Amino acid sequence: MAVQARDVPAHRIRRLWPADRNAVLDYFLRLDPETRASRFMGNVSEAGVRAYAAQAVTAEGILYGAFVDGALRGLGELRPMGASRFGFGPRAEAAFAVERAFRRRGIGADLFARIARSARHRGVEDLHVRCLSGNGPMLRLAAKHGAALQHAGSEIEGALHLARPTPFSLWYEGIAETFDFSLAVSFPDRDGTPA
Ligand SMILES: CC(C)(COP(=O)(O)OP(=O)(O)OC[C@H]1O[C@@H](n2cnc3c(N)ncnc32)[C@H](O)[C@@H]1OP(=O)(O)O)[C@@H](O)C(=O)NCCC(=O)NCCS
Repeated sequence: MAVQARDVPAHRIRRLWPADRNAVLDYFLRLDPETRASRFMGNVSEAGVRAYAAQAVTAEGILYGAFVDGALRGLGELRPMGASRFGFGPRAEAAFAVERAFRRRGIGADLFARIARSARHRGVEDLHVRCLSGNGPMLRLAAKHGAALQHAGSEIEGALHLARPTPFSLWYEGIAETFDFSLAVSFPDRDGTPA
């Protein structure tokens, strides 16, 4: 029988906090070798992935997670580009990965939109995404969101110019993040929905 859209569990996106550290670690370690290579633009050892994952939530930047049935299945990272002692500068970089079994259901697109919104409200003017030139899914995802794509050797860099925030959008972002924080504290490692 054909799978109907309503049969596919919905995902929920929220900001990740230090309380989510174990979920982030497990998520990175679950990624298959090809996804890891796409995400990190090259082969990374198990130890390398573990080391990266262990500091991912506490390093400079902001993370958003996509949860399906309470488990972290996709992750978007927003990192400042260049030195930034206080918040983000005008340029930031984003990176994404969705577990293979959970792709093509809108998680990457929702993470991209959430990261772009977050960057915009932190004063970022240009959001950059880098991937290998053969990474069709990521290139299409970036182009779909309006990023201008440019070749740089074996890599492609996408740059998205962000609109300036408005008072209403800033207020909305503040509410969304406060809500995310209380969910993470109440139900760590989950999407915040009580069973
Ligand atoms: C890129 C990636 C995050 C997309 O995640 P996803 O959840 O499958 O993406 P979505 O379902 O939201 O798709 C959004 C858009 O991306 C594009 N896209 C995603 N997968 C695609 C594929 N296999 N082929 C062609 N286009 C694809 C499409 O434009 C799609 O829009 P559409 O469904 O309206 O056609 C995912 O493929 C991934 O994790 N790849 C490995 C990690 C990686 O390459 N990261 C990039 C370096 S930072």
